Amino acid sequence: MRIVLGVGGGIAAYKVASLLRLFTEAGHNVTVIPTEASTRFVGTATWEALSGNPVSNSVFDDVHQVNHVRLGHEADLVVVAPATADLLAKAATGQAGDLLTNTLLMAHGPVLFAPAMHTEMWQHAATRANVDTLRTRGAAVLEPATGRLTGADSGPGRLPEPEVIFEAAMALVEGQADYQLPLAGRTVTISAGGTREPLDPVRFLGNRSSGKQGVALAVAARNAGATVRLLAAHMEVPPPAGVEVVAVETALQLREAALAAAADSDVVIMSAAVADFRPAAVSDTKIKKRDDSADPIITLVRNPDILHELVELRNAVGPAGRYQLIVGFAAETGDSQGDVLAYAEAKLERKGCDLLVVNHVGSDKVFGQDTNSVVILSRSGSEPQEASGTKTEVSTAIISRISFELNHVSPRA
Ligand code: CTP
Repeated sequence: MRIVLGVGGGIAAYKVASLLRLFTEAGHNVTVIPTEASTRFVGTATWEALSGNPVSNSVFDDVHQVNHVRLGHEADLVVVAPATADLLAKAATGQAGDLLTNTLLMAHGPVLFAPAMHTEMWQHAATRANVDTLRTRGAAVLEPATGRLTGADSGPGRLPEPEVIFEAAMALVEGQADYQLPLAGRTVTISAGGTREPLDPVRFLGNRSSGKQGVALAVAARNAGATVRLLAAHMEVPPPAGVEVVAVETALQLREAALAAAADSDVVIMSAAVADFRPAAVSDTKIKKRDDSADPIITLVRNPDILHELVELRNAVGPAGRYQLIVGFAAETGDSQGDVLAYAEAKLERKGCDLLVVNHVGSDKVFGQDTNSVVILSRSGSEPQEASGTKTEVSTAIISRISFELNHVSPRA
């Protein structure tokens, strides 16, 4: 098999010498393409000696052979290790400034990225988005290993061991591996829109939720490979293709649908605006105005907190059962008693969910004027993560974060 081995500019480049040995010892013909930066860590002489092939990173060497076209076309497999944040960004945006990035654009066969970087860089929304883009396009991006990093820090970001990359590469070529989609095989239930609480056959108490965020989340989860169930309360936008839709109207109907759906869901996202109260009585007939009667008084009763119930149900099953990630949404305002994050953290504790996506409403003090700016709080103790942009971009960041928590943080095997 002809393999192109791209080497990125990270300290882990030295480990790639072992990976190269594994490939050559298995009888494969490997052409190494180091980035300019990587040659500060490992020189081209090492790659030439170990691969037995000439090494270059310039599109201007051997121009008569049109190397950047030939190498990509001929390769049965392209492996990039270490895939640095910079290389992932370049690949995701289709840059073609050197021989490796040109080759990636010309590759016909499977492409495997083995990332290595500091944890913050790996978890940064920009890197998450780049990884999602690459996976959506069909590239395989391995999850980095967790452990000691170059400095004093530790966490996810270590280059997977050469044997792991080797096995993954072979499985990819044999069509046995599906690394592309981070939520493949997962079922995600998402509630969206606003509930309507009837007063009589023609009137209801409702709210202004459009359902756009929930629908954007459903699209992002679907694109990440999940089986998606959308519990749709009133929405101004149509549900997306490729997801199962369960239409509900009231908070009580949503509760029933959510508890039923939770039974086989890996993730439940409560993005619906659920009415906290409903009219105590629903009139069977239209409430009439009569000149001789007093103005009606509507008595409200409290609706169950669905999010909280979902958490209790999940906790009752316990860690031995199927672990489920539960995500809540909150619209918060700061006041003289506390700032938005303090209130949101208290709500995260109260609700007991794993992640809380906080929308700062009513002021532009903390998160700027972008109304699609959110902060994702986690009970796993990681730092609050900001995400902003269009609802699609924000949803992609939220789904990435959910994938990350599922794959790295949750106790589920
Ligand atoms: N939610 C729910 N059931 C309810 C009300 C809200 O599941 N009856 C969910 C929403 O879908 C959302 C989160 O809880 O995920 C929003 O909580 P919010 O309404 O902000 O919280 P409250 O507990 O109502 O807090 P507050 O005191 O701020 O109104």
